[in-house]
Order: sequence, then structure tokens, then C-alpha cells
Amino acid sequence: MAEHFSLMIHGGAGALEHIRREGSEAGFMQSLKVILQDGRQLLEKGGTALDAVEYCAARLEDDPLYNAGRGSVLNEYGEVEMDAAIMDGQDLAAGAVAAITSIKNPIALARCVLDQSEHVMLIGKGAKEFAKLCNLPAMPDDYFVVESRVRQWREAQKTGGMMLDHEDAGPQRKLGTIGAVARDLKGNLAAATSTGGIVNKRWGRVGDSPIIGAGVFADNQTCAVSATGYGEQFQRTVLSKMIADFVYFKQMTAQEAATAGIEYLVEKVNGLGGVIVIDRQGYCAVGHSTSGMIYGWIERSGELCCKLA
Ligand code: GLY
Repeated sequence: MAEHFSLMIHGGAGALEHIRREGSEAGFMQSLKVILQDGRQLLEKGGTALDAVEYCAARLEDDPLYNAGRGSVLNEYGEVEMDAAIMDGQDLAAGAVAAITSIKNPIALARCVLDQSEHVMLIGKGAKEFAKLCNLPAMPDDYFVVESRVRQWREAQKTGGMMLDHEDAGPQRKLGTIGAVARDLKGNLAAATSTGGIVNKRWGRVGDSPIIGAGVFADNQTCAVSATGYGEQFQRTVLSKMIADFVYFKQMTAQEAATAGIEYLVEKVNGLGGVIVIDRQGYCAVGHSTSGMIYGWIERSGELCCKLA
């Protein structure tokens, strides 16, 4: 057994001034801290990286502070449609769901796709039917919809535009999406990403979060990556795989690869967003082209740290 584990989670990227102004900074920090503490316990006991990222992502989905699960942003019809994916770095097994409704934890459904189907991605009604076979809990629509998202959606409807989560009062507000990456005591890597997507998005729009290689990627030989930001830009640059490729082909460290990935995102498509990365040695890294990002980490069994930076 390797002697240490690592865990990183994120709760979105963007301009975070409004969070500080509204005084909700402490709430985010507390939420990240508690989830990381529980994630630490799971990994310390020998839990797998795959279980740890699913567990942390589900906890982030349950917290209405974040744009995933409960608290997701609303589409053009005022409905919640969610995307999620999970990947196991041991064998590149992956599960993803897109444009799903009702399922309490989309990441749990993505895990069922990985474990119990021969497919990588299920969408819409078929995914919901599969959730029933997996005995996953469904919730009424109003469970997912929180007041702040309704206000935000009304603003977007007025202007007729799509917005990135809390974009309403500025060009670069917080971009939602949550994610987790982990390395377990055996040295296995895993990654998970989950989101409600973009405010007032077109019905049926799918972002980067459930696309393997775009919003999520894990390979024991390189690193585990979870992304947040403008999904179309991450899809077009296949950014999470790009970061793994920097590690594989250029022998970059996690931090060098995260930085190079974000540079590539900006250079190619003027992209807006961020990534968290853990490499096979357990080193943690972050990169973002937004002015801020919400994240926390435990590197190589060390101290728990949280940041709204
Ligand atoms: N990154 C989340 C989305 O664009 O849907």
C-alpha cells in the first residue's frame, strides 16, 4: 500500500466578489471543510478513490450552495436538467449521464452506469429508467429548485441570454459545477464532475461535465482532472485529457499541467473556467482563467486546506 492519499474538491470558478459581498464566504468554506473531513475518513480507512470522489460529489450535489443536484441552475423552460460523470483511473472505466431530471444524485447514477452497464453514457428518459433499475432515489422537481436560481433565471429570461451560473451582475461571476479528484492509499486515481449547466440554457443542451476528456478524466499513469467553466469551451479543447497528455507526453508536474492547460484554453478559445488536478504521486494542483475559484484539498495525507481565491 502507498503510504498516503490525496483528495481535492471544487465548487465552481468565477468572480467571487458577490460571495464576499453577500457574506456567504464562511458558508462555502465550512461546506468544503466538512466534506473534505468526511472524505479523509473514507480514504484513511482504505476506501477507494472512486468511492471517495462519488461520495464527495454527492455531498456537493446535496448542498444548495452549488450548481449541481439541489440548487442547480434552470434551463430556458425554468427546469433543472443535470449532467454528471465519474472515471476510474485504474482501467479508464467511466460512467456519465446527461440532461437528466428528478434523480437526487446524478453522480450516483453515473457510477451505476460505470458499474452496472456496458455503456459510458446514458441520457434523458433512458437514464431515468436505468436509475429505477438501480433503485436510485428520485425527488420531486421542487426539491432541486432554490429561490436564488429562480431570481437568476428571471434575470436571464428578461435579457433573453444564457448565463454562467451567477453571471447576472457582471461579466465573470461564479461559474458553477462541482467536482472531486482523489488518489487512494493503493495509488489509484479517480475523478467526478456534476453540474446543472448554464443558466437559461437551451433545453437538451449538454455541457462538458459528462464528456470524458472534456470535463473529467482519470488515468493512474498520469492524473485525475475535474473541470468547471464554460462547457462548450472545455468540450472544444478536450481540456481534461489535454492536461493528462501534458503529464504523459511532456512529463509535466500536476501544477505545470494545470497551468499549461488553462493557458491552452485561453489561447485557443479565450476560455473561462478552472481545473483541479491530482497526479499519480498525489500532488494537488489548481488552475483557472477566471479571477477566482472555490476549492479545497488534502495533499499526501497532509493538512486540510480550503480556498476561495
Ligand atoms: N461546465 C459546466 C457546463 O458548462 O455545463
